[in-house]
Amino acid sequence: MLLLAIETSCDDTCVAVLRGRPGGADLLSSAVSSHLIHAEYQGIVPELASREHLRLIGPVLRRALSEAQVNLQDLEAVAVTSGPGLIGSLLVGLSLGKALAYGLGIPVVGVNHVEAHLAAAALDRGTERVSLPFVGLVASGGHTELVLVRQWGGWELLGATRDDAAGEAFDKVAKMLGMGFPGGAALSRAAASGRPDAYAFPRAWLGIESGGLDLSFSGLKTAVKLHLDAQGWPDRPTAAAERERLMADVAASFEAAVVEVLAQKLWKAAEKTGVRQLVVAGGVAANPPLRAALEAGARQRHLDLIIPPSSLCGDNAAMVGMTGLQRLAGGQASTHDLAAIPNLDDWHGFYATLS
Ligand code: KG4
Ligand code: ZN
Repeated sequence: MLLLAIETSCDDTCVAVLRGRPGGADLLSSAVSSHLIHAEYQGIVPELASREHLRLIGPVLRRALSEAQVNLQDLEAVAVTSGPGLIGSLLVGLSLGKALAYGLGIPVVGVNHVEAHLAAAALDRGTERVSLPFVGLVASGGHTELVLVRQWGGWELLGATRDDAAGEAFDKVAKMLGMGFPGGAALSRAAASGRPDAYAFPRAWLGIESGGLDLSFSGLKTAVKLHLDAQGWPDRPTAAAERERLMADVAASFEAAVVEVLAQKLWKAAEKTGVRQLVVAGGVAANPPLRAALEAGARQRHLDLIIPPSSLCGDNAAMVGMTGLQRLAGGQASTHDLAAIPNLDDWHGFYATLS
């Protein structure tokens, strides 16, 4: 089945073309246009994101079709992110997806963005390789959720952040250090030359010893801020070498705290559920020390861990297409009155819009 996938839930305008086949899919193209405009504001401005999606969706669609060497008329189905996300942004992709499906007389399927991050593992390794049930950890700029997936299309929520998402904490600390927005990847690069044990930043365990799987990163972020204030940052130190040392050590110590908490919560989720297959995805899953720590820890515990390649961890439409193909294979197309569901809470359990 030749499927067009659309993702516009946040600040990346993405379109992909996939050809579904038994056991997986071939990715024919994946066009991603990330909005640069938000850097100026050091954070995502929803109204500007909607406008950027409107401006970019046509060219990105044309690029994806041309790279895949297919015409609109060749398409057999459309998958589109219908939530969670920014409402104005979601509506741009959703309107295009529904209009194309209606005009071409082909099915449309609404996809949950968080589930799509996890489905990137199935796109990379094949559907058979990602055996059910699995424990999923999605860590991105907007989400930090631990879920138990018994079947595609639903989950049991095991734990979630009570405040900042992991990627949001990365971005806020990067901002304090003057690394631009979104600064997660830049912070990680700076951390590579720092000492992870330079500063003992706090870890919020939230009752992990008794099975607590919720997370929290705002205390950690505040601890970094207080530490920087105490050092006189950003005015001091003045010498370039000292400034670089401080930045690298703060970045590495902060990163170590996030990595340790995410890893320990994941092991606890596996222990609590007795599930041995784990999938970790989302933009933060591109973080090299996190990947290394999880891979080593899973090996040691004889757990089966899949982390998609970094190129599939950030927002993209390929993962949305993979989720859509799985849904369509199960006979679960959406109807043309498919609506956006912006809040994740409204998705927990099952997908109400699917017929
Ligand atoms: O999944 P994603 O592209 O978008 C959302 O759904 O939010 O994730 C983006 C987040 C940003 O917060 C970004 O700073 C973070 O992922 N990120 C990283 C790295 N690369 C991207 N965080 C830590 N280390 C990285 N290498
Ligand atoms: Zn995402």
